[in-house]
Amino acid sequence: MRRVLMAASFGGVILFAAAASAQTSTAAAPTFSKDIAPIFQAKCQACHQPNSIAPMSLISFAESRPWARSIKNRVSTRQMPPWHIDQSVGVQKFQNDMSLTQKQIDTIVAWVDAGAPQGDPKDLPKPLPLSNDNEWQGVKDGFGPPDIVVKSSEYKMPANHQDVWYRPSNDLPITEPRWVRMVEIRPSNLKARKTIHHSIAYLLLNDDPDAVNQGTANGPAPAASREDLVARRPQLMEWAIGKGYDRFREGTGKLILPGEKISWDQHIHAVGEEVSSGSEIGLWLYPKGQEPKKRSYLIGFTGLRERGFLDIPPNSLSFTEGFTVLKENTIITNFQPHFHLRGKAMQVEAILPDGARQIISYVGNFNFNWMTNYIYDDDAAPVFPKGTVIHVSAWYDNTRNNPTNPDPEQWVGYGDRTVDEMAHAWMNVVYLDDAEYKALLAERKAKTTTERDQKQ
Ligand code: HEC
Repeated sequence: MRRVLMAASFGGVILFAAAASAQTSTAAAPTFSKDIAPIFQAKCQACHQPNSIAPMSLISFAESRPWARSIKNRVSTRQMPPWHIDQSVGVQKFQNDMSLTQKQIDTIVAWVDAGAPQGDPKDLPKPLPLSNDNEWQGVKDGFGPPDIVVKSSEYKMPANHQDVWYRPSNDLPITEPRWVRMVEIRPSNLKARKTIHHSIAYLLLNDDPDAVNQGTANGPAPAASREDLVARRPQLMEWAIGKGYDRFREGTGKLILPGEKISWDQHIHAVGEEVSSGSEIGLWLYPKGQEPKKRSYLIGFTGLRERGFLDIPPNSLSFTEGFTVLKENTIITNFQPHFHLRGKAMQVEAILPDGARQIISYVGNFNFNWMTNYIYDDDAAPVFPKGTVIHVSAWYDNTRNNPTNPDPEQWVGYGDRTVDEMAHAWMNVVYLDDAEYKALLAERKAKTTTERDQKQ
């Protein structure tokens, strides 16, 4: 703006200024060796290396250079790294934030704009060790190997076939009750990372009513409905492409009992070659003697007004919303939006008993490849009084502008297949009694006051 004004009034001066700034920008242009490689190491190479899930390696200059244009595009639109949560509304502190800072984005963009120069190879940081191809994310993040691993049998998917829902079950190898601290599902082999779209591990209870979520309501569920069934088979975890682990809040977890089973629901997709795939679940336990008192429940807060009903016309954008009442005081510890191919955006909002509204999280450019799980920082995990309504808004793009849309001419309804649609927000919750709720609010208030005092 200022430049334009100056150019209008002092043409000669601006010529000089432009030349000077062009010169400084060449002199200061970021280079791959010095400025870009450290960012790629920190934020990209976990996936962009041979044997990991990304299509190309971003380790050396030679490997990265051909992708410069695409890199600029993906990072400046915040599609890569796959961290799609809106950074201007809702909770902003996470345990697993992999996003780039604005400064890192600016550096990458400036590098590409300057012709993606290599710079002096002597400036390169020491290479990172390559990670094991199908390693647990929990191990990569330093939590050590899981205490218990349960592996499902595998399904041999032909090269071309309709989607399959594979539902085997396994015994839980425990002889005494144990509390789970963290849980992760992974496909049983590297190729299965291409075929398994999602995998859910349910706990088949013996008789443990406390394990069944009773803390939410959204209208009477018809007896023996699908929803009722799901409530009676509490989930240990829902995993989908791009998701890591669920780590329960300190002092909370899932109790597993001897004799219970794991029941799988694996959505497998044919990929043009025969692949055998199954899933494994890793359970990290609380040490004996440090068992927590509270359960954490995984809830799929619905984005639909009516159960199992969606009506998305061809070549259109559409919107649905769903409302769920919290019957207990509740902490929400994470957010994982779930859609299929037409899902575009999801917002989760709390409507408090006094009518006040608070946006919890918003993802504006949902991408089906990435069922990213946004895990809130302990101090940032939102907490609500009983009577709060969780309002999920969902937007769908069934036009040709949606790059993942297989056919904008199709009407789309509710269903399990990838070409059908659904919309819910997977969130882990912990319920608090009134005393615990008040204590937590007081603790948070004290913390913010101290932080404010320290700043002054
Ligand atoms: C969690 C794993 C992961 C991380 C971290 C990640 N990527 Fe990716 N990236 C992928 C996968 C998988 C794909 C292919 C699927 C897709 O496009 O979403 C991809 C696709 C891309 C593409 C598009 C390639 C094409 O076909 O045009 C670019 C460019 C890219 N990533 C750059 C980056 C950069 C730069 C970073 C770091 C700043 C990064 N990615 C971080 C997994 C990752």
